[in-house]
Amino acid sequence: MGRFDGRVAFLTGAASGIGRATALRMAEDGAVVVGFDRDGDGLAEVAGLVEALGATVSTIVGDVSDRDECHAAVDHAVATHGRLDILANIAGVAWGEHVADVTAEGWNRMLAINVSGVFWCCQAALPHLVETRGNIVNIASNAGLMGQAYTVAYSTTKGAVVNMTRALAMEFAKEPVRINAVAPGGVVTSMTRNYSMPDDVDFSLVRPYMGFREMADPAELANVIAFVASDEASRMHGAIVSVDGGLTAG
Ligand SMILES: NC(=O)c1ccc[n+]([C@@H]2O[C@H](COP(=O)([O-])OP(=O)(O)OC[C@H]3O[C@@H](n4cnc5c(N)ncnc54)[C@H](O)[C@@H]3O)[C@@H](O)[C@H]2O)c1
Repeated sequence: MGRFDGRVAFLTGAASGIGRATALRMAEDGAVVVGFDRDGDGLAEVAGLVEALGATVSTIVGDVSDRDECHAAVDHAVATHGRLDILANIAGVAWGEHVADVTAEGWNRMLAINVSGVFWCCQAALPHLVETRGNIVNIASNAGLMGQAYTVAYSTTKGAVVNMTRALAMEFAKEPVRINAVAPGGVVTSMTRNYSMPDDVDFSLVRPYMGFREMADPAELANVIAFVASDEASRMHGAIVSVDGGLTAG
C-alpha cells in the first residue's frame, strides 16, 4: 500500500526540477499524477518515467499565468480521474537584476507566473479539495522569508506566496482542507543552472543568502512536499516549511 493510493495529485511545474521529482515521488507512493506545465516535451518525458513506475499519469500543456487555463486544467483533471486530492503549485520562474533594470514586462510576467498562477490554481482546486479532504502545497522560497539583493521581483512574488498561503489557510480554517507552503533554499535544477545575475553585483550583498551547505537535490524537496501532502502531516495547516539547509535560521 502506498500512502497516496487512490489519490489524484495535480502538480504545476511537473516537467522539470522540483516538480519532476515530486511527480516521481508521489507516483512511487501510489498517486495518480496530473502534470500541468508549459513545457510539453518535459511533461512527456516525466509521464514516461511515471508510467514506468506503474502509476497513472496525465499531462496538460498550459500556462499557469492564465486564469482560464488553470481552471480548465483542474476541471480536466477532475473529469478524467474523478477526484482531486492534492494540488502542488511548483511552477515558477526566477532571474536576478538591479532594481533600476526591472521592466514593466518582466515585473508583470514574474508576478503573473509566481503569484497569480498559484492563486488561480488554488481557486480552481479548492472546491474539489474540500470535497476530498485534500490539501495544497505551495512552493515559496527562502527569498520569500528574507530580503534578497538583486532579486526584488522574485522576492516579492515569494513573499506573496507565503502570505497567500496563510490567508487561504485562515479563510478555510473551518473547512476540511489543509493549505501549506514549502520554502526551499538553493536546489540544483534548470532554474539555478540557468540563473542570470548582473555581472557587477556587490558579492558581499549576495553572500548572506548562499548559506553554508551544498545545494539540495530536487528529490530532497520532493520528499518534504510529499510528506506535507500526506496524512502524516494531518496537523499541518497554514505552515511555511523551510527546507533550506539552515539558510534562514540565522
Ligand atoms: N531551484 C531553486 O533553487 C529554488 C529555490 C527556491 C524556490 N524554488 C521554487 O521551486 C519551484 C520549482 O523550481 P525549479 O527549481 O524546479 O525550476 P525548474 O525551472 O526546473 O522548473 C520550473 C517549471 O515551471 C514551469 N513553468 C514556468 N513557467 C510556467 C508557466 N507560465 N506555466 C506553466 N509552467 C511553467 C517550467 O516549464 C518548469 O518545468 C519554483 O516555484 C521556484 O521558484 C526553487
